[in-house]
Amino acid sequence: MKPQWSLTAAVGLVLAAVSLAVFSQSHDQHAHAEQGKAGKVENTLSTFMRKKLSAASDVLEGLTTEDGALIAKGGNAMAEMSRVEVWQVLTDKDYRNFSRDFREAAKKLAEAGEKEDFDAAALHWIKVTTACIDCHKHVRQQRAAKK
Ligand code: HEC
Repeated sequence: MKPQWSLTAAVGLVLAAVSLAVFSQSHDQHAHAEQGKAGKVENTLSTFMRKKLSAASDVLEGLTTEDGALIAKGGNAMAEMSRVEVWQVLTDKDYRNFSRDFREAAKKLAEAGEKEDFDAAALHWIKVTTACIDCHKHVRQQRAAKK
C-alpha cells in the first residue's frame, strides 16, 4: 500500500524535524545560559580585582600624607583579598608564591602603618607593587601559553 507508507514516512519526517528543532533550541538556550554565567563570573572577578586599585590608592595617600591608619587600611584590605577563593584564578606553584609574597608584604605594610613607621611602610609598599607587577606578568604569560 504505497500511499500509507508515504504517509508514515511524512509523519516520521515531521516528527524528526520537530524534535531536531526542539533539541537545537534547548541547546541554544543552554549555550546562552552558559555564556551569561561566564560573563557574570568575569564581571565579579573584574570588580573584585579592581578593588586592589582603591586599596593601593589608600596606601599611596597614606604614605604621602603620613597617615598610618590609611596605610594599615589599604594593606589589610590587600592581605584579606588575597585569601579569598575568587583570588585563586590560577593554582600553579608560581601563582601561589606570588600570592604569598604579596600577602606577606601587604601584612608588613599594614603593620608599619599601624606603628607609624613610614620608612618601613615605603619599603614594603615597593615590595607590594613589585608583587602586583610580577604576578600580572605571570598571569599574562600563562594565558598566552594556553592560546
Ligand atoms: C598573585 C597574583 C596577583 C597579584 C599579587 C595582584 N594581582 Fe591583580 N589580578 C590578578 C589576576 C589573576 C587578575 C585577573 C586577570 C584576568 O582575568 O585577566 C588580576 C586583575 C587585576 C586588574 C584588572 C581587573 C579588571 O578586570 O579590570 C587590576 C586593575 C589589578 N589586578 C590590579 C592589581 C594591583 C594594583 C595589585 C597590587 C596591589 C595586584 N593586582 C596584585 C592577580 C594578581
